[in-house]
Amino acid sequence: MSEEVTYADLKFQDSSKRENIHELDTVGIKAPPALSHGWRQRILALTLLCLLLLIGLGVLGSLFYTTLKIEMENLNKLQNFKEELQRNISLQLIHNMNNSKRIMDLSNTLQEIATKLCHELYKREPEHKCKPCPKTWMWHEDSCYILTDNYETWQKSVMFCSAQNASLLTIKNKSVLEFIKSKRLRGYWLGLLAKKNKRINQKLDETIISSNWFTRNRNDVNDMMYCGYIDTVYIYYTHCTSPMNFICEKLADPVKIESTLMSEIPDGKYS
Ligand SMILES: *[C@@H]1O[C@H](CO)[C@@H](O)[C@H](O)[C@H]1NC(C)=O
Ligand SMILES: *[C@@H]1O[C@H](CO)[C@@H](O)[C@H](O)[C@H]1NC(C)=O
Ligand SMILES: *[C@@H]1O[C@H](CO)[C@@H](O)[C@H](O)[C@H]1NC(C)=O
Ligand SMILES: *[C@@H]1O[C@H](CO)[C@@H](O)[C@H](O)[C@H]1NC(C)=O
Repeated sequence: MSEEVTYADLKFQDSSKRENIHELDTVGIKAPPALSHGWRQRILALTLLCLLLLIGLGVLGSLFYTTLKIEMENLNKLQNFKEELQRNISLQLIHNMNNSKRIMDLSNTLQEIATKLCHELYKREPEHKCKPCPKTWMWHEDSCYILTDNYETWQKSVMFCSAQNASLLTIKNKSVLEFIKSKRLRGYWLGLLAKKNKRINQKLDETIISSNWFTRNRNDVNDMMYCGYIDTVYIYYTHCTSPMNFICEKLADPVKIESTLMSEIPDGKYS
């Protein structure tokens, strides 16, 4: 019995061993393929994932790139537009400046023409409305002159002229010199500086460049001083208190353009 058992045991053992061996055999051979299959799937999934990620990145990149490109193009367009606008504006500014300069030139020319025309009208009609001097004043170049026939001291003459917003005549250039010489004036105070001593008489021509002409703010004249007056083409000095005629001068107003178009006959001339 024990033998049988032993045999059976042995047989069982043997068979189980063999089975074990068999099992081991099957595991030894069959296990590796099962494992590589799992890994392959995982690797495949990973690769797919990587690919997807790469594609996603690519898509994102290209999206970013195209967006950037569009934005850059827009920026460039905006920049160009801005530059063109700036160019246009500066051109417009130059154009406007040119235009206002042209208008200014034109109005200056118009003013010159009106002044010339008014000088011509004044020659024919001394009291033409266009004359830019007060009534009874003479007009020469761009100044107005008045010859008075009230005998006054030199100081009173200065005050009289001053009250007319004018000053005693000074002769500082050839044009005024010739104009005054043509009047052949006898005994008119001039705007010369008063002297403490009686001066040698001078020819009128020599006085143009002299620095003896009176300036408004010098008024320290006393009765003992000598003042200059014109006598034809000479200048003499006499006591400033002597009564004498005098000449006032002042700057003429600009000629009013529309006044040159008015009637030659001034208001009230024949009334
Ligand atoms: C600039 O001026 C040109 C010509 O005058 C005009 O055709 C263009 O539209 C202007 N550009 C802008 C931005 O105003
Ligand atoms: C402005 O005037 C200058 C010359 O005075 C000229 O060269 C230029 O073309 C002018 N520009 C415009 C916009 O009129
Ligand atoms: C001469 O001087 C007078 C003022 O004294 C002035 O009105 C006139 O314009 C001057 N003429 C010239 C040619 O300089
Ligand atoms: C002198 O000038 C003042 C101010 O400029 C003016 O009010 C006055 O009327 C002028 N006087 C004469 C006589 O022109």
